[in-house]
Amino acid sequence: MSYTILIVDDEENARQNIGEFLLGKGYDVTGAANLAEARESLDRADADIVLLDVQLPDGYGPSLLYETERMMLRPPVIMITAYGDIEMAVEAMKNGAHDFLTKPIEFSRLEKSLDRACEAVSMRRELTHLRQSQQKDLHFIIGKSQGMKSVVDQARRAAEASVSVLITGETGTGKEVLANYIHKSGPRAEKPFIPINCAAIQPTMLESELFGYEAGAFTGADRRKLGLMEVADGGILFLDEISSMSLDMQAKLLRAIEERAFRRVGGIKMIKVDVQILAASNRDLPTLIKENEFREDLYYRLKVVNLHLPPLRERSQDIPELAGFFVRRINLRLGANVTDISQRGLEALVKYKWPGNIRELSNAIERALLFCDDAVVDLVHLPSDIIHTS
Ligand SMILES: Nc1ncnc2c1ncn2[C@@H]1O[C@H](COP(=O)(O)OP(=O)(O)OP(=O)(O)O)[C@@H](O)[C@H]1O
Ligand SMILES: [Mg+2]
Repeated sequence: MSYTILIVDDEENARQNIGEFLLGKGYDVTGAANLAEARESLDRADADIVLLDVQLPDGYGPSLLYETERMMLRPPVIMITAYGDIEMAVEAMKNGAHDFLTKPIEFSRLEKSLDRACEAVSMRRELTHLRQSQQKDLHFIIGKSQGMKSVVDQARRAAEASVSVLITGETGTGKEVLANYIHKSGPRAEKPFIPINCAAIQPTMLESELFGYEAGAFTGADRRKLGLMEVADGGILFLDEISSMSLDMQAKLLRAIEERAFRRVGGIKMIKVDVQILAASNRDLPTLIKENEFREDLYYRLKVVNLHLPPLRERSQDIPELAGFFVRRINLRLGANVTDISQRGLEALVKYKWPGNIRELSNAIERALLFCDDAVVDLVHLPSDIIHTS
């Protein structure tokens, strides 16, 4: 991940000296000679961290603190105070400054202060994203079937090795749940898990969604936006319904995976990231490759490990455990008093073929609980197609 430091100082020499030092340390640098320019830069979201001089030609530096405080990704502000102006520094810290340095700036201190500020920035980025991605119920039932056990075993190994994983399986078999499981069970568990549904995003928007854009990249791009690839740095990017991705975008994704770096839309700098890629599809990718709708090279990049989730009808011995789990969970959510399923009811569930797989099972049980006034779900409460096929 890269960080841009905004240096607010009216002395051009000072900006240049500090700027050169920071560029040498791998930071991006931008400058402002007064408060007005600093505000413009903040409005464009050009800066991750601000180095702020106190005395500026058009006002008092710390007044900028109130403005950064209101910004969503609150950039940490490091104040640069004249030697001995401790009172002012204390005041600034109370008002939310991240740190203060005294003039003349010691570069070693500056570097340490920036290290901490970078940590704060990356934490804020993650938190913002976590809040945005809705908290789903992510319980994962493995069951007894051999097929499922071996999938889960491979999933754990893939998580441990941080390799790309392609998750396939019919609709409702639990591809998203498995992706979450990989995240939780591997070394990236404390890092972000960023899902993106490629089918739900307009093809023209997908690139900027993934890679982000620079201010002015296109009409309406009035400030820089980070892409999900960058937000996922250190963690996992889950590309759901990957078959919906356009061929053009597939080529860009492949390049980003191979180079472990990409450019924001409208940007020139390569941004390096360390992201584990998980992809899911309920369409058969080899068929799409034959029809020239999916790139073969990307397919092989993604499926370093291919986890195929069996349809529920092939693991019917797991239905009782799954059904019991859904009864308890949905009962709790609905505040009902249902505790069990009758033997006849369970037999019907086990015999049914479940074209919609686990999602359909969960929906059938939710419906049954809505119709059930007793403590036990019976045949009469189940959807009619389930009773009639059994
Ligand atoms: N092993 C499991 N344990 C508990 N719940 C599960 C399991 N697998 C799937 N589910 C539940 O079934 C539903 C469908 O799962 P999920 O969304 O992961 O399926 P999917 O394979 O991604 O489907 P689609 O291809 O339609 O996107 C969810 O409500 C999920 O919570
Ligand atoms: Mg899904």
